Amino acid sequence: MILCDNGLFTLHTKHTTYQMKANEYGVLLHTYYGPRVHDGDLSYLIRYIDRSFAPNPEEAGGSRLFSLDVMPQEYSSCGMGDYRLPSLELELPNGSRSASPRYKSFRVERGKYALEGLPAFRGAAEDETLVIILEDAAAQTDIELYYGVLEDYDVITRAVKVINRGSETVKLRQAASLCLDFQREDLDLITFDGKHVLERCPNRAPLVPGVRSVGSVRGTSSHQHNPFVILCRHDTSEDHGLCFGAMLLYSGNFEAAVERAQFDDVRLVLGIHPHHFCWPLAPGESFTTPEAALCCSKQGFSVLSHRLHRCIRERLLQNPWEKLPNRVLVNNWEATEFTFDAERLMQIAGSAAPMGIGLFVMDDGWFGARNSDTAGLGDWTVNSDKLPGGLESLVPRIKALGMDFGIWIEPEMVNEDSALYRAHPDWAFQIPGRPKVRGRQQLVLDFSRREVRDYIYQALKAVLSSADISYVKWDMNRSLATVWSAALPPEQQGEVYHRYVLGLYDMLDQMRRDFPQVLIEGCSGGGGRFDAGMLYYTPQIWCSDNTDAIDRLRIQYGTSFCYPVCTMGAHVSAVPNAQTGRSVPIETRGVVAMNGTFGYEMDLDQTTEEEKEIIRRQTAFFKEHCGLIQQGDYYRLSDPFQDAPYTAWEQVSQDRREALASVVFGMTHGAPPFLSLRFKGLDPELCYRVNGEGCFPGDVLMEAGWPLPLPWGDYQALQIYLSAI
Ligand code: DGJ
Repeated sequence: MILCDNGLFTLHTKHTTYQMKANEYGVLLHTYYGPRVHDGDLSYLIRYIDRSFAPNPEEAGGSRLFSLDVMPQEYSSCGMGDYRLPSLELELPNGSRSASPRYKSFRVERGKYALEGLPAFRGAAEDETLVIILEDAAAQTDIELYYGVLEDYDVITRAVKVINRGSETVKLRQAASLCLDFQREDLDLITFDGKHVLERCPNRAPLVPGVRSVGSVRGTSSHQHNPFVILCRHDTSEDHGLCFGAMLLYSGNFEAAVERAQFDDVRLVLGIHPHHFCWPLAPGESFTTPEAALCCSKQGFSVLSHRLHRCIRERLLQNPWEKLPNRVLVNNWEATEFTFDAERLMQIAGSAAPMGIGLFVMDDGWFGARNSDTAGLGDWTVNSDKLPGGLESLVPRIKALGMDFGIWIEPEMVNEDSALYRAHPDWAFQIPGRPKVRGRQQLVLDFSRREVRDYIYQALKAVLSSADISYVKWDMNRSLATVWSAALPPEQQGEVYHRYVLGLYDMLDQMRRDFPQVLIEGCSGGGGRFDAGMLYYTPQIWCSDNTDAIDRLRIQYGTSFCYPVCTMGAHVSAVPNAQTGRSVPIETRGVVAMNGTFGYEMDLDQTTEEEKEIIRRQTAFFKEHCGLIQQGDYYRLSDPFQDAPYTAWEQVSQDRREALASVVFGMTHGAPPFLSLRFKGLDPELCYRVNGEGCFPGDVLMEAGWPLPLPWGDYQALQIYLSAI
């Protein structure tokens, strides 16, 4: 619900309230964001006090009581006496770099706004949009702040459009998607950080004076930091306390910066990373930022995650379940890498089908001269030595096994050893006069250029049209460097990183429109581009190249704070694991991979009869419960980063009549203690069967718990299924 009253703007969702107010000088102040409260003007919380070294804007006349530097701003200025983090920076023709947005007008629209060429949460009839128009008079620029109110989800989305209304070019040096000020809160910041093969590990620390910033200048959202952060009170836990989640729907360079300023006031600024960014706006032109989304819970992280998960599932992902009902998959990468032919693939698929696996995905190596990572990228035609008769011959054979067919691509890349590079060396990012920077032996194509995208897309379209293909794994295996576009003049080179992302989205969108039946999985060396922007186009993303089940507990735990289970690509792979050398029982590997999209990456042709039987049971169990696993409310029952004897999590159906708890023990020690598991989220009044037996009241299972067996051997796992009677 949006209420507008004489410069006071209040947004209510079911359980939260967000408010801002334009004061007498036209400064849009942020008055409140938190649990839902009654209507009323909360600007009484903002005090007008003379603070030393806090400059006073000219509008305040002689008054020393008004300073931007000490008041909570809705969209912070730059160079005008607020020394905290800026949201907007404009370079005028005279070389000055500043911004001074002042309130101009507003409008309310039915439904939620959409952003052209950018991912955004989908709107529904019941949504509303508030647009507040600010203006920077000296820059003759309007700044439109967009707020989408997704009332039922407790999510508020934001985006900003900067419009040059003047007669001279203005350079946009920074345009954040979101600024969020807190007058005074003792807050912790949680960021989700890591590296290749260990992504999105939560790091929580109290804010100390100064700025803490995470982000990426790699051209992708990166393995190293995720465009999602949480701010919370020191005592907030899974079940209690105030917390705020902020995500950016963007897959390129980003920055999430949080400042604890001099009076312990806190500011979060989230948006495209200002480093490498400069966007000249000619008269009449506009720039729209990526969308950001906010969510708040006063009942701890579980509820925050439930709200975010539901909103992502229902308003961001494009109906993945309808496309492939049986999408337990097998992927040949870890079994074969580049060394395969049609018969070898048929062997794997032929073993997989009787085990209940419904999708075969052919990974890297099927095209051009791709026999190693040194050649072939860019040449998207089938390698007929490996696949005689092409996909036209292979795919019907796979389909005859009762399986769907999927294919791996890496459209954004080129090897120097390829026909494409030999024909168009200038299509790859390179800075004239500087040496090349290779990553995995490959260069990055300039996706800011339409002709480059068109060429790649036409080649891929021919492949995707040549056979009955249901699934595409879109990979991306290096960070960007030497970013310079041969197609843009010097003054526009600061646009290239963002134009690259827009080009990527454009091609993904085109593919989605041309092949609506195809489910696209995102991947960037595992989870190097796991963000809500990609999820809009690719409803699932390979979580990590690390398939070790014990490391995956951490990766999937961290990922789950923002992203729902159905988005996490997770497979069972062979042991000893290729990344860690660890051997984990196949039952445990199955339990962990089921907490995701579920599939197999190992050579199923090499499995024993006993393993085959276990796999058959796993696929049957997953198919029976995948609705609950992927769409139930998700509870993290323990933290795998703590030295706890087990890691556990649980899914509870929306009607609370079903639940599934999964438990993975760590290393075993002699004479282990008696352990039990306390369920969460059950209906205390209902009675549940535990694994089909008995009758246990919900409150008993939640308060007294359920005894766990004593583990025998390292890394054992079990699942406990509850169904209400
Ligand atoms: C990196 C991916 O994460 C792997 O799963 C695999 O597809 C390889 N690329 C193929 O080159």
